[in-house]
Amino acid sequence: MSNRILHQGLKAKVMSAEAAAALIPNGSVLGMSGFTGAGYPKAVPIALAKRALDEKLKGKALKLDVLTGASTGPELDTMLSTVEASRFRYPYQGDAVTREKINAGLIEYQDMHLSHAGTQVRYGYYGKGKNNIDFAVIEVTKILEDGTAVPSSSCGANNVYLEHCDKIILEVNSWQDERLLGMHDIISMNPIHGERREIPIYKADDRKGSQVWKFDVSKVVAVVESSHPDRNAPFKPPEEIHKRIAQHILDFFDGEVKAGRLSKHLNALQSGVGNIANAVLVGLNTGPFDRMISYTEVIQDGMLDMLDSGKLTAASATAFSVSPEGQIRFNKNIDTYRKQIILRPQEISNHPEVIRRLGCIAMNGFVEADIYGHVNSTHIAGKGIENGIGGSGDFARNSAYTIFMSPATAKDGKISAIVPFASHIDHTEHDVSGIVTEYGFADLRGRSPKEKAKEIIEKAAAPEYRPILWDYVKRSMKNPSFGLHSPHMYSEAFAFHQRYLASGDMRPKK
Ligand code: COA
Repeated sequence: MSNRILHQGLKAKVMSAEAAAALIPNGSVLGMSGFTGAGYPKAVPIALAKRALDEKLKGKALKLDVLTGASTGPELDTMLSTVEASRFRYPYQGDAVTREKINAGLIEYQDMHLSHAGTQVRYGYYGKGKNNIDFAVIEVTKILEDGTAVPSSSCGANNVYLEHCDKIILEVNSWQDERLLGMHDIISMNPIHGERREIPIYKADDRKGSQVWKFDVSKVVAVVESSHPDRNAPFKPPEEIHKRIAQHILDFFDGEVKAGRLSKHLNALQSGVGNIANAVLVGLNTGPFDRMISYTEVIQDGMLDMLDSGKLTAASATAFSVSPEGQIRFNKNIDTYRKQIILRPQEISNHPEVIRRLGCIAMNGFVEADIYGHVNSTHIAGKGIENGIGGSGDFARNSAYTIFMSPATAKDGKISAIVPFASHIDHTEHDVSGIVTEYGFADLRGRSPKEKAKEIIEKAAAPEYRPILWDYVKRSMKNPSFGLHSPHMYSEAFAFHQRYLASGDMRPKK
């Protein structure tokens, strides 16, 4: 047994992952740790998947409701989805096999704002028991003598799952660095609405909570040891197109500083993950702004670079999402990063109250945006859901600046990211300040829908799509299905998507 389990009573609960998985009855609701491939349990889900396969061969189906913080990794989502053991999935996923099963109708998926996930569990929407969910299955770094646990590389919704479950299974992962102790700030929310006080985060780097998970030790039925690494996807250097998108955003910030609306420290930054977000961080690291701070969801390699260079003074998030090289650098400098990085439960990292207080600058990817500024972050025509809304809605609705970014086209120009009517709407025009592509920054602030359409088509749409978008706008103005505030023609609003489904190209045949 490793020296990571110091509580005497919990030492007696150590067992194999298979034995722990066998304790979980068919039909259980599981609240698991895990956020952007960090801090998710690995050994128990693998054992559950093996058990599901054995039971399937015997003609029985193991079906579980799987709640997490956000996306996990192959040991959890890929394994459980491959053997079809996930009946229901909540509140976010980003796994190829899970996506395929959801879109095939084999997994029920509820895509939810990440700041709301815990509240909805507290209200008892996911389980019938007294405590709402059956098991919390949580990865931790270490169990201390007093029966508290050092969190691992994400916080997610673990606080809620530990509190609102009947039984707890802890996975103690020796791959996680023990020096994570002190990096987390666990603020407990009063679950009763009407009795809640303000969240005492006034600056992005405030620390007001506990460094460890506190839970009822008598609920722990198993402790499992593991040593699996987090998912840690490799970092891809930004491509030319991503750098161009990033440059438009940096130029926009420059304009805001010149206009006196932002200082050269900018406001607290929120940055999604992926190539464009990384390119923005690379640009910020070499640009004119300094002593910035981040109040975000995820810490990626670009943020570590900015902390190293001193451009960023501190970063608050709920999880890491770093490359294998980023992980080595993180472990090497962990004593410095511990003073600069704060990991919080997702209901705090994404809380509207704090985001508004800090006036965050939100920068997230989009799938498609329409001419009036409504944004689809989740659904792809002909395919279905891609990942989920994640925290993009938490930040979009509440930030001072809400910027969505994407290449102007996909699939070699056959798809336009700017369409007449978004085929699914995650963020409405009321939430969006800017739509950015490699062609430019469409600034939607202070504009009516028709003025937004002009800005989006002229600045953000790909040049080959501009004439057909203008054609739609002009004919909608002449023959609107509902007035001239945001003119549309019901009969043609989805013509781009219909053409794509019929011919594989959104552009009309010449
Ligand atoms: N129509 C059809 N397909 C499209 C498309 C569109 N309008 N836009 C993109 N695609 C395809 C791409 O071609 C790519 O397909 P492939 O996997 O077959 O290559 C796929 O969708 C993903 O596109 P990509 O450009 O690689 O996206 P990305 O990695 O930049 O991610 C989102 C973009 C929107 C999927 C991603 O940002 C996301 O999941 N956002 C929602 C959650 C979020 O914002 N989280 C951060 C919150 S804090």
